Amino acid sequence: MKRTIRLVIMIMGLVMLLAACGGKENGGTPTPTESEKKDLPTYTVPDLRGMYYGDAVSKVRQELERAGLTNVSVVCIWDPTNYDPAMNAKIMGSNPEAGTVLMDLGAPITLELYAAEAAPEFVSPTVTPATGGEGKALVVYFSATGNTRNVAEMIAEIENADTWEIIPEQPYSKEDINYQDYNCRALKEQNDKSARPAIAGEKIDLSGYTKIYIGYPIWATQEPRIMDTFVEAYDFGTATVIPFCTSGSSGIGSTGTRLATLAGSGDWKAGKRFPGSATEEDVRKWIESLQQ
Ligand SMILES: Cc1cc2nc3c(=O)[nH]c(=O)nc-3n(C[C@H](O)[C@H](O)[C@H](O)COP(=O)(O)O)c2cc1C
Repeated sequence: MKRTIRLVIMIMGLVMLLAACGGKENGGTPTPTESEKKDLPTYTVPDLRGMYYGDAVSKVRQELERAGLTNVSVVCIWDPTNYDPAMNAKIMGSNPEAGTVLMDLGAPITLELYAAEAAPEFVSPTVTPATGGEGKALVVYFSATGNTRNVAEMIAEIENADTWEIIPEQPYSKEDINYQDYNCRALKEQNDKSARPAIAGEKIDLSGYTKIYIGYPIWATQEPRIMDTFVEAYDFGTATVIPFCTSGSSGIGSTGTRLATLAGSGDWKAGKRFPGSATEEDVRKWIESLQQ
């Protein structure tokens, strides 16, 4: 697997090198000239260093979509000498140019990585209020950087379900979830199985819901502790409960069974892991497979 990833990266690097050297003559994607480049749209990319590769791509894609730039393909490459497979395909390096993001908006655009302070903040979208579903499905989720929220919203769209976001009483700052720092709040919580970060706001009335999806990111190969807070606070009765998660590369592992045990109620099904870049088709296929 790692070999395949390395091979893909090497091929990508080679393709980039050829594109850079050959320009329009190489028969590949045309490289804009310096004067053409001036007319191309620009985009300030947040600092992607240290992120998992798939997350970096999906983060950029999400931000572009929010800016109204849909139909954009994002290719993320980095200096292969800085690529360490043991680090699980993270973008490495202290040189901002170690990672280059290309936006294909008809013509390829080379973007440089900027320091973190230039990164736009994520804006939380409005959440459908949910009170007693009367047979409807419900999608409950926690999302720190938007990936799980995206999948949750796709499920809700397909299932015509209500959504309810688990919002921490003490919001997670960028530093809190900076998992390069072993002392960051999120990793400290993950290392303490008894940690139960508080959830903000009123409790939700689960009584009318017969099918409940529960979504979360994977943090240090487990469910974030706030998910433990959530499942312990509710009686799921006989509702069907379906966990799902997003991650850089880790699987859903035993997070679903752990949540089921902590909940002590509900008919829990096997869960599903999605990459941060999951598409509506991926989600639809999964939901269809649940009905078989
Ligand atoms: C504190 C922390 C720990 C993480 N640990 C892992 C991990 O062990 N394995 C993995 O594949 N991804 C890991 N990730 C990446 C997230 O699972 C991934 O970015 C996820 O899609 C984020 O979902 P969200 O945008 O809904 O918060 C971690 C992220 C954070 C913030």
